[in-house]
Amino acid sequence: MRLALLGGGGFRVPLVYGALLGDRAEGRITELVLYDVDSGRLTAVARVLAEQAEGVPDAPAVTVTTDLDEALRGADFVFSAIRVGGLEGRAADERIALAEGVLGQETVGAGGIAYGLRTVPVAVEIARRVARLAPDALVINFTNPAGLVTEAMAGVLGDRVVGICDSPVGLGRRVARLLGADPATAWIDYAGLNHLGWLRGLRVGGRDLLPGLLADPVLLGSFEEGRLFGADWLRTLGAVPNEYLHYYYFNRETVAAYRSAERTRGAFLHEQQDGFYAAMRRPGGGSALAAWDRTRAEREATYMAHNRQAAGAGERDAADLESGGYEQVALALMRAVARDERTTLILNVRNRGALAPLDADAVVEVPCLVDGNGAHPVTVSPLTGHAAGLVTAVKAVEREVLAAAGSGSRERAVAAFALHPLVDSVTVARRLVDAYAAAHPGLAYLR
Ligand code: G6P
Ligand code: MN
Repeated sequence: MRLALLGGGGFRVPLVYGALLGDRAEGRITELVLYDVDSGRLTAVARVLAEQAEGVPDAPAVTVTTDLDEALRGADFVFSAIRVGGLEGRAADERIALAEGVLGQETVGAGGIAYGLRTVPVAVEIARRVARLAPDALVINFTNPAGLVTEAMAGVLGDRVVGICDSPVGLGRRVARLLGADPATAWIDYAGLNHLGWLRGLRVGGRDLLPGLLADPVLLGSFEEGRLFGADWLRTLGAVPNEYLHYYYFNRETVAAYRSAERTRGAFLHEQQDGFYAAMRRPGGGSALAAWDRTRAEREATYMAHNRQAAGAGERDAADLESGGYEQVALALMRAVARDERTTLILNVRNRGALAPLDADAVVEVPCLVDGNGAHPVTVSPLTGHAAGLVTAVKAVEREVLAAAGSGSRERAVAAFALHPLVDSVTVARRLVDAYAAAHPGLAYLR
């Protein structure tokens, strides 16, 4: 089996390779092709992968290329994990929004809209090439904003593209662990859009264990989402929100914390990763894998640090820093498809009625049955009024982004920003479009 990884020079690629190295079963990936626009980064990541493979018998063979078509030809699976505009682009997304007093974040609010406007045209072009060169391949999309980008690619590839995220799995795992349940077998009733979902129940043996958690203030205070949102708010909601909903429920506090930070998350990561890639270019030195792992540990330990600070939530639990995030979701998805082994995973797929307020083609994040035929969304408990409203509002914003990217219409881009619940004025939306268009060459298509 051959896997083409787009964005193959990306910092998280060794996580994926580590997961592949642990897979010994029939139908596993035997060939990995890394594609990237930056050959220097490909060389750096290939060094780390070579160290990871040392002493592993039959490790998947790694090749690198800057030719997209070459990467796609003959692929059984395609992972898309690209970052259009790089971390510099992410930092600009964050900075420009914060300067207007609205949330500047990678995927949520104005920053996510700017990132989506830049990424959708590139993702659609990739989808077209996949359709031509690897029509039977399954595309696994990690590229953020993952739900929106998956929907854009599904316009070309239909159900041959599935979006993934590590946050619902992490949440399910944390709640299951607290309740003494096995996260692999418990039924996790989670639904929404990517980075905008709620865990409404966790069923074991026909019984929902979540009410037990919501009734226990000590348990509620003992995990990430409990500390971020506070026990009272979780009880009021009757559900546990995805950590990204912290930007909505505590918008004022998170914006203030992000504005007062010395630099944005994107700027921090930009500097951190530049340091890593520069070290990889220097001849000699120590282990590439050790340098990568130090950088990874620092990145994970500081994840959402300003949200935790704003909430007085303290440090992230060591258990949350264990690996087993998105790379394990990707691996489980490929195994189920390649071996036709039925499993359940929370994925981003076209709705087809799973979530009542949205149309059939809207990409949603819900539990899916996965087998050799692909991912099939499961009808979940309906979203309640508040959640249904928020999901519908944000999907409408995503549709404006798709319309702007498809037509080049600046007016549609203004609508995307203006209609977002975290952008509080049409005037601000207009200024955001002007500032983003000036900052990003990838937005030159807006007229
Ligand atoms: C989680 C999300 C990803 C997101 C990442 C950002 O893993 O699920 O979608 O890209 O966080 O983390 P970072 O370390 O880049 O701020
Ligand atoms: Mn994600």
